[in-house]
Amino acid sequence: MEYDRVSFPEAIEQIAGKLGIEVPREEGGRPRTDNKEKQNLFSILEKANLFYQEQLRSHPEADRAQNYLRQRGLSSQIAHRFGIGYAPSGWDNLLKFAGKNEDDITLLTEAGLIVTDDEKQRRYDRFRERIMFPIRDTRGRVIAFGGRVLGDDKPKYLNSPETPVFFKSRELYGLYEANKLSSRLEQILIVEGYMDVVALAQFDINFAAATLGTSATAQHLEKAFRYTQNIVFSFDGDEAGRKAARRALDAALPVISEGRQVHFLFLPEGEDPDTLVRNKGADAFLSRIRQAKPLSEYLFEQVSEGLNTQSTEGRSQLVARALPLLGQIPQGVFRNMMLNTLSALSQLPLADLEKLQPAAKSHSNKSTPLKTPQDDSPVTTRKRTSLAAHSGYQSMALEERAIFLLLNFPGFIQLAEHIDPLLGYFENSDNIKSTTFFRLVRLLRDKPGASINSVIGRWAGLYDDESCECIYQLANRELLTTQDESRQLFIDTLKRLKQRCEAIAEKQLIEKLSKHPQLDDETLNKLNELLLKRKPS
Ligand code: UTP
Ligand code: MN
Repeated sequence: MEYDRVSFPEAIEQIAGKLGIEVPREEGGRPRTDNKEKQNLFSILEKANLFYQEQLRSHPEADRAQNYLRQRGLSSQIAHRFGIGYAPSGWDNLLKFAGKNEDDITLLTEAGLIVTDDEKQRRYDRFRERIMFPIRDTRGRVIAFGGRVLGDDKPKYLNSPETPVFFKSRELYGLYEANKLSSRLEQILIVEGYMDVVALAQFDINFAAATLGTSATAQHLEKAFRYTQNIVFSFDGDEAGRKAARRALDAALPVISEGRQVHFLFLPEGEDPDTLVRNKGADAFLSRIRQAKPLSEYLFEQVSEGLNTQSTEGRSQLVARALPLLGQIPQGVFRNMMLNTLSALSQLPLADLEKLQPAAKSHSNKSTPLKTPQDDSPVTTRKRTSLAAHSGYQSMALEERAIFLLLNFPGFIQLAEHIDPLLGYFENSDNIKSTTFFRLVRLLRDKPGASINSVIGRWAGLYDDESCECIYQLANRELLTTQDESRQLFIDTLKRLKQRCEAIAEKQLIEKLSKHPQLDDETLNKLNELLLKRKPS
């Protein structure tokens, strides 16, 4: 999970695949993907990748392609790091090289590298006379390509079609390469184009990743948030860039949660990261990144656009525009602060805004790093009455439930006022579950922002007792509540734990008292504390 930054089910799936074991599924689960077929696709894509790279070195047209890259300012080191290649002109270079038999041709077709013309019964290479950018998944496997013409022909870029191993709306070009260079990414800059990623890398800005000709989706963000807590979107200084920004805002709102930050960087008219970094240099670009607009600022700017907020009409418009957007944000500190800001801007008291706020949407599981249940899973549509009574969590001990929820939402670590009172009781507890919770809190505080997968990865190295079993089991439980619900449940659980701990401490004290009527100072103090806390009956 840590190495590949994948969820627990994905990790299980991968290991099982390697060992040829079938993962048992619950009824109605996602259909098992055919691992063998995917493996074959990966290997044909890698074969094509090596082929294109070789053509860039040795094809008779290689000079032209190399010149193009040079003219765009790319060194051979960077070209090599990104595996850039060249698809020569002609209809069947790859077909001849990799399509030796019908099985291989079928695979090439499925991988999107060969196009079959049904009517004319003709087959040909999809990518011809183009600079080739291999698109890698986060494990470094080639899953698709983007190809750019050398001149101004149209279309300028051609991408692989979607295949069983390539879903455009999920992949970020350059994320693998960025992550490979750094043990921990401070931030990820999301840009619009392939060339932007490599041009920035050429200037030693190694944390950019590009969406692939689509606007940013919540899936892109979730993926990037596995690597960092800070995402900066960069938008080209044109109308398309401004539209893309608005869509990125919509994608970001539901996945913002504690600790996650999103900024918006708007480039000057007519510039993209590639041109800007070349014209102004890396330092100028980095300083722009540092000055990027926080999401909150961009949002309020957007909703105030064209309104006269001096007038009552303008302010009521503002509220009407802003509330649906704020309603997208998961419940929590961030949303409350946004509501406060809106209250200040609109001069409408917070209580009124809260009344107007549409019922909180359930962003079911969108921010959980461990689980990715399907959107239509029955749990997310079922009406819940009592959370704690939810059958799925009933069997868990309170400590287990606290651990489980924290594993799914590490951001809850910020609920310190609920967590801290327990730590004293749990530190030297004989109960392994209490100890496990204590350790999890410590690990999360120790490495703020660390992915939960990496925490679990460290666990086995640090502890060699039943806590490992406890953590692994809980990490594998299914999440049945949304983030908002989980937060409430987490707080309730901690409150109940605290009551229980206090009750036990009180009992122990009374026992001690009955055995040793002569009290030492410490015991007397504790007794005092307890008596003070006790509600008057
Ligand atoms: P741009 O046209 O902004 O590309 O498209 P760019 O990176 O600045 O290209 P250069 O500098 O001229 O080489 C941004 C992205 O949109 C997608 C590609 O993913 C591209 O990187 N795109 C663009 C296409 O898929 N097809 C196209 O024809 C054009
Ligand atoms: Mn460009």
